[in-house]
Amino acid sequence: MMLSVPSHTQRGRFITFEGLDGCGKSTQLEKLAGVLRAQKLPVVVTREPGGTATGEKIRQLLLDTKTSSLAPLAELALMFASRAQHIAEVIEPGLTEGRIVLCDRFTDSTEAYQGGGRKLGHEPVLALHGILCGNLWPELTILMDSDVAKSVDRARRRNKTFSAGSGKAKSDENRFEQESRAFFGRVRNAYLAIAAREAERVVVVDARGTPEETHKQIVEVVRRKLKLGNEYGLNSPQSHRATEKTSRT
Ligand code: TMP
Repeated sequence: MMLSVPSHTQRGRFITFEGLDGCGKSTQLEKLAGVLRAQKLPVVVTREPGGTATGEKIRQLLLDTKTSSLAPLAELALMFASRAQHIAEVIEPGLTEGRIVLCDRFTDSTEAYQGGGRKLGHEPVLALHGILCGNLWPELTILMDSDVAKSVDRARRRNKTFSAGSGKAKSDENRFEQESRAFFGRVRNAYLAIAAREAERVVVVDARGTPEETHKQIVEVVRRKLKLGNEYGLNSPQSHRATEKTSRT
């Protein structure tokens, strides 16, 4: 992919990745970040819940299996608390500085998991987004579509491996993976409904193939949808601001 860097005055680009637990989303995000960095583009890789010191504390609370009986509305509020902080501290400053912000999950996750999975519906999610997120939306969302059973099994295996791991203290992030297949079926349906409603922004990528096949599809979507190569112009490496930042902790 031939790309170039935005100039100082240009606002950055906001791209999010979405999908079920275990769909390979984080791997694909890192692979795309690698392609963009190879072009010396200023990339910020971040995630939700989390992405800031405060957000990571909220993440721990939200994902820890020891957090029991969390009311769905409290869960919804915490997701947005993390997001509001993340927008203020990482996403908006990154975009203002002209960076490409690649975010692992955003409000579509809340609509899919709390709206669909927890059956809160999409209205409260979109209403809170309007109030708390200044109506900031990504210009491109890659929705990695995968089989519910396979993805969830993969996520559960991965988390077991982590918790059985090297004796290093690793936080337990299994609370959502313990949900039923029916829950994840609702999450997937909600995701597909978002993609149907917002076909301009949300591109569904089939994540059932090999990681390399999926990566190729994603690079093509990013190139086509964001027209990065044409719009930013090429061949001006001396103007590149090659600074990179990873806010993921
Ligand atoms: P992940 O970052 O490893 O994908 O895990 C985050 C988990 O949090 C995942 O199970 C999805 C869930 N989640 C929500 O339920 N709502 C949200 O708004 C976000 C951002 C994540």
